[in-house]
This record gives sequence, structure tokens and C-alpha cells, in this order.
Amino acid sequence: MINSKVIFENTYGYENFITDEERNEIETWAFLEQERMRKVYPINNESDQRKKDIIRHFGKLSELTHVPKLVNELKEKLIEYEQLEEFLPEPHNGDWISIVGQDAYVEPHIDANLNRNYYTRRYNLLISLPTSGGLPIYDGKIIPVKEKLIWRCDAGLYNHTSEIVNGNRFRINLSFGFSISIDWENKKFNKKVIKSLI
Ligand SMILES: [Fe+2]
Repeated sequence: MINSKVIFENTYGYENFITDEERNEIETWAFLEQERMRKVYPINNESDQRKKDIIRHFGKLSELTHVPKLVNELKEKLIEYEQLEEFLPEPHNGDWISIVGQDAYVEPHIDANLNRNYYTRRYNLLISLPTSGGLPIYDGKIIPVKEKLIWRCDAGLYNHTSEIVNGNRFRINLSFGFSISIDWENKKFNKKVIKSLI
């Protein structure tokens, strides 16, 4: 089934947010742009991530040579699905794509927020997953994502990381970032979902 919502323990996602053809198009584009992406250095200085042969590439879409029309269309579709209204661009990394290889992982961290009234939310679309490992870990829970699934990560509020990538397939993640108005979120759900940030 296309676009079915799946509920995880502490978040949710949409399965088959993209078709196989769209997945292929984004994967091909990611590898073409790989040379333009930065190498990622360990966020917390993790020594096991400093080995030369560890593959970690990261590209802000604003810094790449080309972004397929499809990617912009997917962001619009997401905004519609999620009925996002009061948000600003995420100012630090914006939207980005990453390619992560054998033995690499996303180190535990919380994203910076725009200010005390807007927090960083990301929607992560898995374009490719390794044969084992590479699953996101969000606020201490493993999220059993699949390729073509997009999931919500309140990255400015909760710690997130990933399992180590194993096997010969890459972990490719396309991430859409938003600075979400806390007031709007609280009004929408008619409760104090989030206190103002410090
Ligand atoms: Fe993050």
C-alpha cells in the first residue's frame, strides 16, 4: 500500500512515501553528487569514527550542483501530509542528503534549535539501507525503518543516533529540516506538547 502511516513506539512515519522509480532516481543523484559532499567528522570526536576508510558523506542541498525537481516535490508533499503551517527554514543544515558506509554511524546528538520559540524537526527519508545495522535510534528506541519510508525526528528535542552500518550497501538518508513554531504546535494539539526551550 502506498503512503501508509506507521506508528512506532515514540514517533511515526509513512511507508512507501516514494515509489521504486523515485528511490532509484534519488539514489543515482546522491552518488553523482557524492564528490561534492563534505566528509563528515565525528560530532562528539568518537575515535572509532576517525578511521580513514570510514565513509561518511553529507551534503546540504543548497551546496550541491543540482537538486532534482522530485526532491522539491517530495518536500511539498510532506508539508501537505503533515499539515505543517507555521515553520521557518532550519538554519543550520537545512535539507541534506548523506551517504554512510561500512562501520560508520550517526553519533548521538541533539540538533540545535533556531531560538526558544522554534525547535528543529526533521523528516528522514531512507533511500538505501545496509544489509544489516544502520537503523535510527531515537530517544533510546530503535526505529525499524525500511527503504522508501519517511519518519519524523524531533531532532532539536530528543537525542538521536544510529546503529553501525554493516554490509556492502550504503545508508542513504534524505533529510528535510524545519524550524517548527512551538506555539503553533501547542495550539494545534490543544495542549502543552513542548515547553519553551531554554
Ligand atoms: Fe541530528
